[in-house]
Amino acid sequence: MFITFEGIEGCGKSTQVRLLADFLKDGTATILVTREPGGTEIGGKIRSILLDSVNAKIDSLTELLLYEADRAQHVEEIIRPCLEAKKIVLCDRFSDATLCYQGYARGFDLELIERLHKIILKGLKPDMTFLLDCPVEIGLGRAWKRIALAAKNRKEDRFEREETGFHEKVRQGYLHLAKAEPARFHIIDASQDIPAIHHDIASIVSSRLKSRNARTH
Ligand code: TMP
Repeated sequence: MFITFEGIEGCGKSTQVRLLADFLKDGTATILVTREPGGTEIGGKIRSILLDSVNAKIDSLTELLLYEADRAQHVEEIIRPCLEAKKIVLCDRFSDATLCYQGYARGFDLELIERLHKIILKGLKPDMTFLLDCPVEIGLGRAWKRIALAAKNRKEDRFEREETGFHEKVRQGYLHLAKAEPARFHIIDASQDIPAIHHDIASIVSSRLKSRNARTH
């Protein structure tokens, strides 16, 4: 089972990935928690290039290709082997993020991104995607609070510095993708508090696992 978490900055997905992992650890399956960018050692290096605001002059094609390079390494080194070993993989952002950030917001042709994904993913698709949706002002407010608390040498704020309109395009992009694939996407109201969001996600995953187990037994 491959479950991804998506949403704008400050939507709270990283917290929810951790809470779902703890919730699922009581079951029998092995859980693997990972993220993009930065789910591998090589990806960690790519992440620091992508998110550090000292790299504000990064070319947008370079940006797109670095996200895809990170993903190619991540899929082959971590995600595919874990899924083959029957683990439950929880991934904080995946290919939908590129469609929304580099496609809908940055303006790259969605078909070009889909073509890259065909080569990189070779048919791999999340079984479930949680879209943590909230207004941009709420998300960005939370994100800046987190950045203010982070250690000075770990500034990952290049995207937060984008104007509000950019983040609005990201949000609308996600809602568009969710509408196009209602069987995969679950839209969660991320303006709720943390326990309420976790409750929504955990109940959807539990019922999915139950129906899966019923089918395989
Ligand atoms: P994070 O803050 O959720 O760890 O994500 C890192 C940043 O990278 C976030 O601002 C969204 C951005 N991003 C893209 O622009 N394209 C992508 O494909 C991915 C995975 C993330």
